[in-house]
Amino acid sequence: ALVAEARLVTAYAYAPYSHFNVGAVARLANDKTVSGTNQENASYPVGICAERVLLGSIATLHPHVPVTSIAISYNSEEVKSDHPISPCGMCRQALLEYETRTSKPIRLILSGQEGKVFIVKTASFLLPFAFTKDELI
Ligand code: THU
Repeated sequence: ALVAEARLVTAYAYAPYSHFNVGAVARLANDKTVSGTNQENASYPVGICAERVLLGSIATLHPHVPVTSIAISYNSEEVKSDHPISPCGMCRQALLEYETRTSKPIRLILSGQEGKVFIVKTASFLLPFAFTKDELI
């Protein structure tokens, strides 16, 4: 269900520059779902990935509620959407911090509009040897 929803919400991405629409949908421990999509900007670096839009919304709408799973999908007029994509480095760092903050692993479900679906048991698997708050506190 989460994958189907992630595929659908790609329609709400704002990606007039890359034409690469990303959708991310989370299921929370309270069984609620929250969606995020990438939001680009004419000043390119201002654009934000779907995953970080999503995490900001979750933190604000449902503070302290752990995230159980996040499905991520994409759609594009220019390239095929027949295989999974995986989060960029900045989003991996953000996902890892969210896991740490809520003390619960986040399961990632990665897919295109069709084809294989990859499941990663915890976002921390995507960022070994990470920089964490342990260095600062
Ligand atoms: N993008 C995401 O939203 N999530 C990812 O995991 C990879 C890339 C966005 C950023 C940009 O708006 C577009 O996809 C092309 O890079």
